[in-house]
Amino acid sequence: MKNIKKITCIGAGYVGGPTMAVIAQKNPDITVTVVDLNEARIDAWNDEDASKLPIYEPGLDAIVTEARGRNLFFSTDVERAIVEADMIFISVNTPTKTYGKGKGQAADLKFIELCARQIAAVATSDKIVVEKSTLPVRTAEALKSILDHTGNGVNFHILSNPEFLAEGTAVADLQNPDRVLIGGEDAEAIEALAQVYEAWVPRERIITTNLWSSELSKLVANAFLAQRVSSINAISELCEATGANVDEVARAIGLDSRIGPKFLKASVGFGGSCFQKDILNLVYIARSYNLKAVADYWEQVIILNDHQKTRFAEQIIKTLYNTVNGKKIAFLGWAFKKDTNDTRESAAIYVADYLLEEEANIVVYDPKVSSDQIYRDLDYLGTRSPADNRRLVTVVNEPYEAVDEAHALAVLTEWDEFKAYDWQRIKEVMKKPSFVFDGRKLLNRSFLESLGFVYYAIGE
Ligand code: UDX
Ligand code: ADP
Repeated sequence: MKNIKKITCIGAGYVGGPTMAVIAQKNPDITVTVVDLNEARIDAWNDEDASKLPIYEPGLDAIVTEARGRNLFFSTDVERAIVEADMIFISVNTPTKTYGKGKGQAADLKFIELCARQIAAVATSDKIVVEKSTLPVRTAEALKSILDHTGNGVNFHILSNPEFLAEGTAVADLQNPDRVLIGGEDAEAIEALAQVYEAWVPRERIITTNLWSSELSKLVANAFLAQRVSSINAISELCEATGANVDEVARAIGLDSRIGPKFLKASVGFGGSCFQKDILNLVYIARSYNLKAVADYWEQVIILNDHQKTRFAEQIIKTLYNTVNGKKIAFLGWAFKKDTNDTRESAAIYVADYLLEEEANIVVYDPKVSSDQIYRDLDYLGTRSPADNRRLVTVVNEPYEAVDEAHALAVLTEWDEFKAYDWQRIKEVMKKPSFVFDGRKLLNRSFLESLGFVYYAIGE
């Protein structure tokens, strides 16, 4: 197998963009082209002003600035990029189906299939096709079938190379991965991809498996991580009932080296594009093989997560004397975690929706999320009319404006800057009693109580 000289990535999103930027940075001899149908997104990736990149990730702007124009290119010319590439990464979105069989559970593979058909239609030389998107097990088989039956007689080797980066720490995760996983059948194709990573990842951290194991490992990794969050969140409710403190419990159990300290932070609930989708996928796959107990077991992780979001909203209502009608509630944070502008499945959306059903007035401040995105997220739920969402929700660019005259403040995202605010000033401008609901356990209870806030935090 010849060395890879040209890589194309289809899909310039949260996975494709950062991953290709780091591959290009570490392999100056390989030309990396990232293509997307979305012209506005590509224009943003090409913007001279690196603060205008379509996704926010700490450290990403510097890497893009270093490699772009040298060996990293962003384009909407999908066909040309396919024709020229030795290796094609598929990194398009695979949302949960919103229609038909498997609605609400199975992954929608229409974008993947479109990519496969497009590759088959235009490729005139052999290609290695790499699945980067998270996919249900056995998607590679479908990809191979489409490529082999509709192609122009060229050879396609399919590899699965799931991405384990977490948003907000994508650059660090890519530069220093715990492992790189490559699943496939063709030893030469596997070796070609391994060499791309070997530019910066030690060989012993590049592991290879068969295709199905690789695909399933990605779902299972996310399911285990989400399960830890739901486990500690379940305990957070028990702590509230019994007077234990969930942080103390997490610390005590996390020091057991078999349990470990990470991913034990109780919160208002996990969000993000992966956890819920991947567990739903796992559940769907288990059901399709009639493994009812397995499906029910994993589904419980989602049920608990939904319960945690609802419970937080209900706590706010109960504390505000059982009515939030017409009351102003300030939301600090809308993103699903800090250091990202991504809001997919963010707990904030569901907490807001619950409070809006009670006719609360919500004022949102998030350092990186635009007001357009916030209204899109609410409108997408379809709970009420877009006009009502705009009547009840205001988005501001300044935190002190959000809290002015607010009955309560809720922390939905753990942005560092929230800790550094002038809490004395916030206390002065809020209505009394001034309630703080900390869904991230971010703030300091004794400090806030000393200022006169009434402070509620998950799991205390
Ligand atoms: C996750 C996986 O970590 C990553 O390996 C995979 O490639 C994609 O899915 P991501 O969704 O970007 O990454 O973020 P992650 O840090 O895993 O957080 C997911 C959600 O769980 C966030 O809403 C976060 O706030 C929440 N969380 C995480 C907790 O509530 N408590 C924790 O202890 C950890
Ligand atoms: P992820 O978090 O998995 O990266 P995103 O939604 O951020 O998901 O990015 C996926 C990108 O893939 C989107 O920008 C979308 O426009 C793009 N995309 C989807 N289908 C195609 C296709 N057939 N050709 C090119 N780009 C596509």
